[in-house]
Amino acid sequence: MRTVAPGYDDRKRCDHDHGTCGMTDQRHEREIDANIEAWRAKPLLREIYARFYDRILEQIDEKADGAIVEIGSGIGNLKERLPAAISSDLYLNGWLDLVCSGYALPLRDHTVSNLILFDVFHHLERPAAFFREAERVLAPRGRLILFEPYISMASWPAYGLFHPEDVAISAPIDLSEEVPLDRYYAAQGNATRMFFRGESEAWERRFRIRHAEAFAAFHYLLSGGFSRRAFYPGRLSGLLRAFDEQVSRWPRLMGGRCLIVLEPLNGSPL
Ligand SMILES: C[S@@+](CC[C@H](N)C(=O)[O-])C[C@H]1O[C@@H](n2cnc3c(N)ncnc32)[C@H](O)[C@@H]1O
Repeated sequence: MRTVAPGYDDRKRCDHDHGTCGMTDQRHEREIDANIEAWRAKPLLREIYARFYDRILEQIDEKADGAIVEIGSGIGNLKERLPAAISSDLYLNGWLDLVCSGYALPLRDHTVSNLILFDVFHHLERPAAFFREAERVLAPRGRLILFEPYISMASWPAYGLFHPEDVAISAPIDLSEEVPLDRYYAAQGNATRMFFRGESEAWERRFRIRHAEAFAAFHYLLSGGFSRRAFYPGRLSGLLRAFDEQVSRWPRLMGGRCLIVLEPLNGSPL
């Protein structure tokens, strides 16, 4: 395992204590094992994620100076498509490059060109504390790329009833910039609320929106994701994707996923 990334700052070595994290190591290990198995056994899932990754790759400026870093890499599947990315997670696993929290990245100031979070932002209990850290590590023209659930009238039941994590569409969002204590947190509605409904502008002090797009994703929602069996046979995925494309023009009604790209307002030169 590589533990030293470009821009790595030894003074900022992550001191995450796995024993205190809200999600226990055993629970995390069970999830990781189940996800690895789903990824292996479910070609439909790999096909869906490949297209999600295409959307992310379109937003990456590979020529920009600095490292590409992924936070919360989980089973590390993005790296198959983006080998240049430094993968990281709170939990130690052999395929990761770094073990660290998104709130305290062991990276020097302004050394990251692209910071990617796939289904991780909604696990950040204090988004403002994360934005502060993201701004610190990002290069002046760097990009913060978030791929998240989008809560619309159509996707709400799917995320609320069939997904174990909270949607938390009206729970207060903690805007403190202090790094929180480790504990398990999930609020799947946070990106929708913050970037599409203007409910909390915690990011506005530090970032501007370069791209914010919500789109229909019935082909994903009905695939059962990592945790359930698919509700449709793989051969119908093209048809469902075509349907998604058509109805994506009404994101508030039909949206299921969103992609947000932020750029830092201020940054010092590399
Ligand atoms: C839903 S999983 C997504 C995993 C992977 N990105 C994917 O799309 O398959 C969320 C991941 O974020 C990690 N995570 C949660 N909070 C984190 C934090 N504060 N810093 C870094 N990683 C975190 C978890 O350990 C978990 O691996």
